[in-house]
Amino acid sequence: MWMRRIGKVFLGLIVVVAAGAATVYAMSNSKLTKAYVVPSEPALAVANDSATIARGEHVARSIAKCTACHGANLGGNVVIDFAPIGHVFATNLTKGNGGVLASYDDATLERAIRHGIGHDGRNLILMPSGEFHNLSDADVTALIAYIRAQPNVDKTSSKSSVGPVIRVQWLQGKVIPIGAAEINHDEKHLAVSPTGISEQHGLYIAKNGCMGCHGAGLSGGPIPGAPPYWKPAANLTPTGLSRYSLGDFTRILQSGRRPDGSLLDSLMPIKATKLMTAEEVESVYRFLKTVPPKPYGNR
Ligand code: HEC
Ligand code: HEC
Repeated sequence: MWMRRIGKVFLGLIVVVAAGAATVYAMSNSKLTKAYVVPSEPALAVANDSATIARGEHVARSIAKCTACHGANLGGNVVIDFAPIGHVFATNLTKGNGGVLASYDDATLERAIRHGIGHDGRNLILMPSGEFHNLSDADVTALIAYIRAQPNVDKTSSKSSVGPVIRVQWLQGKVIPIGAAEINHDEKHLAVSPTGISEQHGLYIAKNGCMGCHGAGLSGGPIPGAPPYWKPAANLTPTGLSRYSLGDFTRILQSGRRPDGSLLDSLMPIKATKLMTAEEVESVYRFLKTVPPKPYGNR
């Protein structure tokens, strides 16, 4: 008698949970497949001289860190494979077997990078176009030239998908796993990137290369959408960084070590920041001094 009643309650719970899960999947799927309208832009002229390709390589390796996810040879890589979060595979961007480059012209490449929409119209998952929307026309065309100049890599790209924890957090408004949903697609782009030592230049680098992890306000904390085993990012506002001189800051970005000798977690992309020029490092340092101080973890 009691057993039967408990059995019924238990069965009822299973039904409720299953219905809840189905609702979460249906609601998040409609967000995943929502179509975003990108206004057509004047065609970008992509040069392919060696200086342009070299600039593209610098942006890809050091500033926007495309190679950190897509691989040093752009042949594609698993970024996250953790069921609650999802399977995130950064596509093979070459013309080799399993690569997608043959399906892209320059305009659709620009749309994938700055608007987060694939050649097939799908919204790209965990590809940080929300940041790359800030790339200048000159840098996005340099990136395209660089991508096109890479040798073919034969490697199958697996399909990216979003797991249950991210789906729930998305519906709660805590994370946005597709760049296309966080971008103002009508916003105008910079024609050229800032150069020299300036706060403007530092802001440009921070938007395209630091804020994705350290937060738009740069105060750090857990990275939204990241698996629990990823280390939280540090506070780069004056509250966190005031103890560092330019020399300290430069050594951290080059060696991954703090002045006390301790090593930063490997999630901090030292392979990329060590390629930054002295002008870029000083520009970021100057810019970070102008950011409103915030306690750690307020993103
Ligand atoms: C944090 C990791 C990450 C970084 C950094 C990153 N990407 Fe991606 N990118 C992805 C993932 C993941 C996908 C596949 C998403 C999907 O299939 O839904 C992707 C997809 C793409 C696509 C579309 C390919 C396709 O499958 O059709 C292009 C083009 C692209 N990235 C270019 C770039 C460029 C250029 C940069 C640097 C400016 C860059 N990515 C930086 C993760 C990243
Ligand atoms: C992929 C994510 C990621 C990106 C992109 C990133 N960081 Fe970090 N960064 C981290 C994490 C995580 C830590 C914390 C490491 C630790 O606690 O050991 C960190 C730590 C740091 C620290 C050390 C602070 C301290 O004293 O502990 C500095 C400085 C720093 N980052 C600067 C930058 C700058 C400047 C950029 C952009 C040019 C940047 N980071 C881009 C993830 C990132």
